[in-house]
Amino acid sequence: MNQDATSSSTALHYADVLDFLSRSSSFKSLSPPFLKRLIVPILGVAHYDTGQYITRQGDRQENVHLVYRGRVHGSRLTEEGGEYHFFIHEGEMFGELALHSNRTYTSNLRAVVPTICLTLELETLKVAMASDWRLAKAIFRVIGNRLAERLAPVQILRFPWTDSLKVLTPKIDAQHEHLFYLINQLGEALERASSAKTLDKVVSEILNDLLLYVDTHFHDEERLMADLGVPWLGEHKAIHHRLEAEIIDFKRKVQQSTQAENQRYMGLQLHKFLGDLLVNHVMNEDMKIKSWPAAAARDGSGSPPAA
Ligand SMILES: [Fe+2]
Ligand SMILES: [Fe+2]
Repeated sequence: MNQDATSSSTALHYADVLDFLSRSSSFKSLSPPFLKRLIVPILGVAHYDTGQYITRQGDRQENVHLVYRGRVHGSRLTEEGGEYHFFIHEGEMFGELALHSNRTYTSNLRAVVPTICLTLELETLKVAMASDWRLAKAIFRVIGNRLAERLAPVQILRFPWTDSLKVLTPKIDAQHEHLFYLINQLGEALERASSAKTLDKVVSEILNDLLLYVDTHFHDEERLMADLGVPWLGEHKAIHHRLEAEIIDFKRKVQQSTQAENQRYMGLQLHKFLGDLLVNHVMNEDMKIKSWPAAAARDGSGSPPAA
């Protein structure tokens, strides 16, 4: 690992870098000994101050960057003449598209906060990829995902509420229905918002509502599960805890996103997050409560709901 020309004298710990690479979406499929042998020796380190440009649209591209600490904001002109905004977070890579297409940056990229990037010189990376198919496979998987993300039209899915999604008690079902309402309300706002300011208001309102929702809903649902003696309560509580932390983290990111034009991107991210919450948690995890014998018996007996 070496420090490049734009870097400060701050040294990174070798073990920390290896641990970071092992957890990054780009390289986690590769084993630590492999990363140690092939990637770590060719890494550079670059430091950027808040607001500092990392690349400008049209600049010649020499390196692939991996965000080690901090956050990067990107913007580029769309074919329709508008501007597209996005963020690159810790653990994510950029610049790798140059391995298969043109060698100039298509976006302006700036550090949102003090940022450290690990860098890989393109030509050196190409040689490393040619020497090992596992590295080539890992890098091209990243490129494929990035291309799919870029080319896919933005699609706002609808999440209709149906009685088949009722778990057990009217209170829990009403809370779940409210989550469906929130995501559809956000979807409508994303389709109709006439200005970034309108969207900003909707995103903030939905996040506040969502935090209230998780506070009361998770508590009520856990109490119901405890009453029913559901054996996987601890596991379910841990998922709730993680989801709550993700929502708080999301709110922090929205608050840090000071530029009005970023609100659409944040709105789309929130819509995706809520969609995952519905599909993965409510529709899969919460529905398991329904199948627990004590729950089925209570449901059939017409007993009053516990929560
Ligand atoms: Fe739930
Ligand atoms: Fe739940």
